[in-house]
Amino acid sequence: MSKVITTLPEGFAHRMVDWQRLHGRQSLPWQNTRDPYRVWLSEIMLQQTQVSTVLDYFPRFLGRFPDVAALAAAPQDDVLALWSGLGYYSRARNLHKCAQEVMGRFGGTFPRRAEDLQTLPGIGRSTAAAIAAFCFDERAAILDGNVKRVLTRVLGYGEDLAVAKNEKALWALAQDLLPEPATNMPRYTQALMDLGATVCLPRKAQCQACPVSTVCQAQAQGEPLAYPVKTRKLKRSSATLWLLWAVNAQGQVWLQKRPDTGIWAGLFSLPVFETEAQLLAAWSQGAQPEFITPWKHVLTHRDLHLHPVRMTGSAPSAPSCEGQWVDAQAWPTLGLPAPIRTLLAS
Ligand code: ADE
Repeated sequence: MSKVITTLPEGFAHRMVDWQRLHGRQSLPWQNTRDPYRVWLSEIMLQQTQVSTVLDYFPRFLGRFPDVAALAAAPQDDVLALWSGLGYYSRARNLHKCAQEVMGRFGGTFPRRAEDLQTLPGIGRSTAAAIAAFCFDERAAILDGNVKRVLTRVLGYGEDLAVAKNEKALWALAQDLLPEPATNMPRYTQALMDLGATVCLPRKAQCQACPVSTVCQAQAQGEPLAYPVKTRKLKRSSATLWLLWAVNAQGQVWLQKRPDTGIWAGLFSLPVFETEAQLLAAWSQGAQPEFITPWKHVLTHRDLHLHPVRMTGSAPSAPSCEGQWVDAQAWPTLGLPAPIRTLLAS
């Protein structure tokens, strides 16, 4: 039987807002703005990436693409190149598509309502709510991984979030906890993010520093780490990739643009083969194969075992697989997967 939550923690929104004013993060470059382009860009970058990394990429990206029109008009390769190293490249492809839809469907102005924002590529329910709350004061609830942890703990919500109806119920509770009226929506939203990122941590709940510990069910039970409950484990897979690192007498390297789907979609990469034999067959003229020590590159759902083989050759010989010779000065400017970039620079 599910336990039904009937009483909400008293003064939750107030406590959160007061705490944020004193202890939250105040001067990140995407705060203190109501510009939906900046807020949207930061939220997408922050989805799977630490603040410290985004602090580096965010200004560089804005420098190259100062507004949604500039981003929409850019070639996809330029967007991917600037994203290079942030990982999860579907975010960059959706970012570009989203900018084009804002131009095409909304006349170049981001829609104001979470409901409409959510129809854009790459903008899920929580991100739509964050943009609408930060920029337009909408009473819309966010519920990303950090916020799920905060709310399940404070509510003592022990239902399994792997079950869709339980997650849906938590969304409704998140909505019930919002400040009424919609004053302080930006600060309240930031407070949830800040508490999840700095106090209500996954393996170490710092309840002594928490503004809602006195109304927190998990704290009352003495079991903050028991929440959230989520049963389904990620299924991990692994793959072995043989990478042809072909170099010619001019020091150029053979790179190919990856297909639009699958691993490293849309990025430039060394040619990828399933087996050593296929790799060696792709450049029969290549000389002195050097088998670089393989290593494991860990992605969210998959371990990649990378086996680079470096070979040299001279013109007019070229690998038979799709690709092109790229100058040593040119490849660093392309969108490359991080492990390939590191390898080429070694
Ligand atoms: N993580 C996601 N959104 C964030 C924000 N606006 N500030 C800090 N960290 C975040």
